[in-house]
Amino acid sequence: MSELLDLAGKHIVLGLSGGIACYKAADFTRELVKAGATVQVVMTAAAEAFITPVTMQALSNRSVYTSQWDAREPNNMAHINLTRDADAIVIAPASADFIAKLVQGRADDLLSLACLARPIERCPLLVAPAMNREMWAHPATQRNLAQLRLDGATLLGPGNGDQACGEIGDGRMLEPVELLSDVIAFFQPKRLAGKRVLITAGPTFEPIDPVRGITNLSSGKMGFAIARAAAEAGAIVTLIAGPVHRPTPRGVIRLDVGTAQQMFDAALDAAAASDVFIATAAVADWRPAAFADHKIKKSADYAVPTLELTENPDILAAVARLLKPPYCVGFAAESADLLKHAREKLVRKGVPLIVGNIGPAAFGFDDNALTLVDAAGERELLRADKLTLARQLITEIATRIGARA
Ligand code: CTP
Repeated sequence: MSELLDLAGKHIVLGLSGGIACYKAADFTRELVKAGATVQVVMTAAAEAFITPVTMQALSNRSVYTSQWDAREPNNMAHINLTRDADAIVIAPASADFIAKLVQGRADDLLSLACLARPIERCPLLVAPAMNREMWAHPATQRNLAQLRLDGATLLGPGNGDQACGEIGDGRMLEPVELLSDVIAFFQPKRLAGKRVLITAGPTFEPIDPVRGITNLSSGKMGFAIARAAAEAGAIVTLIAGPVHRPTPRGVIRLDVGTAQQMFDAALDAAAASDVFIATAAVADWRPAAFADHKIKKSADYAVPTLELTENPDILAAVARLLKPPYCVGFAAESADLLKHAREKLVRKGVPLIVGNIGPAAFGFDDNALTLVDAAGERELLRADKLTLARQLITEIATRIGARA
């Protein structure tokens, strides 16, 4: 994936409280810096027991603040100065104790003091809990978390799984790349807040026999990027994916399918409850009419077998024909005459928007160029990485369905 500077221009105050997950904060700092953010690290005394300020300074390229009595600040008010130009405070890891302090508005160390003294309207607080599962499940912690949300903080995670103590359960801090995705998503406009978006992506695989099949070169990148962009925009996203090995975007519900018929069944199941349907999948147009239960072997005379094909159902057209269809967006992957074919598909599929692209210049690549074709005319989205295009497409769709801008 091409390097995206999704946090360019953002200044993040990264607060570390005490917990073994401090080791992940080092990597998280690198991820934030790689994404273009400037990072000012603030550590509690407990955090310093787990990782040194030297490490955090080297990774953030800024000296670390640990004390409210830090004489480096001309006015000796680090707790005020730290957040005045910050776009957010991210506490990662946030211990159970530190969360309790936030909830009570206590301010007996620099980090809690800076959280309390931040301009609450323009410096949001993001909190990534990290603790043992019993501590996480304790009514006191749950009560504190509920209050923290009411006070306007955003929780990042926690994750679930193996814990440093050897137990398994809820409470571990999200991985650095997950935290990064969540921070990037936090800053995206919520143009599709609460909308249900259904997406098909990737190729389909039509088996001939147990070891062979018909498929195509679709990588699923565009569909997965659109799923991510829709989730970032606040939508509830279901992604029906053909056989591709790609990580599921954060917060997206993923259903894996193989054949076009399976993709059709899954899509028709979910479509009626969706507000938007985006069909990016390169669905195989035909499948073998019969499936051979055993591997087809070469015959004694080496005669070449003949495959009889039958047509697959058209998922997009079927969804568009529903009594109350979602807003349907089709893709047209063409090798020539893009506009002509896109216009034809608009009519043939009965959908309000077709997104055209040149297949050979799109399949598998990290970037693409799109042409939006609808009743009003055409609009070019210039060549860019697929996530940037996906975000632009989501903006276009949100405008068309009259969602909150
Ligand atoms: N599509 C679908 N189900 C199919 C075939 C296509 O949902 N069985 C959707 C694709 O996901 C895409 C759009 O229809 O959004 C157009 O797909 P494309 O393959 O370009 O069009 P076809 O209808 O297959 O036409 P052709 O192959 O002749 O270009």
